[in-house]
Amino acid sequence: MLLPESERLVFRAWEERDWPFFAAMNANPRVMRFFPAVMTEEQSRSMWDRMRAELDEKGYGLYAVELKASGALIGLLGFHWADFAAEFTPCVEIGWRLVPEAWGHGYATEGACACLEHGFARLGFDRVYSFTACVNLPSEAVMKRAAMKKTGEFNHPKVAPDSILYPHVLYMSEAPDR
Ligand SMILES: CC(C)(COP(=O)(O)OP(=O)(O)OC[C@H]1O[C@@H](n2cnc3c(N)ncnc32)[C@H](O)[C@@H]1OP(=O)(O)O)[C@@H](O)C(=O)NCCC(=O)NCCS
Repeated sequence: MLLPESERLVFRAWEERDWPFFAAMNANPRVMRFFPAVMTEEQSRSMWDRMRAELDEKGYGLYAVELKASGALIGLLGFHWADFAAEFTPCVEIGWRLVPEAWGHGYATEGACACLEHGFARLGFDRVYSFTACVNLPSEAVMKRAAMKKTGEFNHPKVAPDSILYPHVLYMSEAPDR
């Protein structure tokens, strides 16, 4: 599998030994602050299976991200084929989720830039979208720092309409030669 590369980060496929880290990250209330709830072990297992299958089948997906300097696993970052009902779907989406110890170092921005470059140059993507709840300003800031352009807002069909997480911002990046 072709993998993104960046100065401080390693992108790789998930391995069995990463499961406890993954489940703990998804059960952490700080990490899941802008999601409807923390994830149960069962929900994490289902995402784990889907994430690994997507990497195997499509050759891209949500990669495990490690720090080159220490080898520490810090979270997930990469692509997902989004096919829920919306005006801009189906599409390739870019997303990120890091453990709090890894926040505030620019890793998400570095990883997003590396993945976008990889997606356009080596995976042949024309466009990549990113979206997050309007209240998730740290995630929107990553989109801005990665030079993605805001194209609008939408209500996420998988979120309850009375939730503060219902309205989302939508950002997009296009391949540089377009
Ligand atoms: C979204 C998330 C990845 C953003 O993390 P983050 O640390 O704010 O973003 P970055 O890794 O790009 O780091 C940027 C911060 O590091 C600082 N920084 C330090 N060194 C830096 C460097 N070399 N380059 C860039 N920024 C640097 C920046 O100033 C910025 O800090 P600030 O927010 O205080 O201004 C993180 O909040 C997260 O994992 N949240 C939980 C999961 C989630 O909500 N995911 C998104 C769902 S849509």
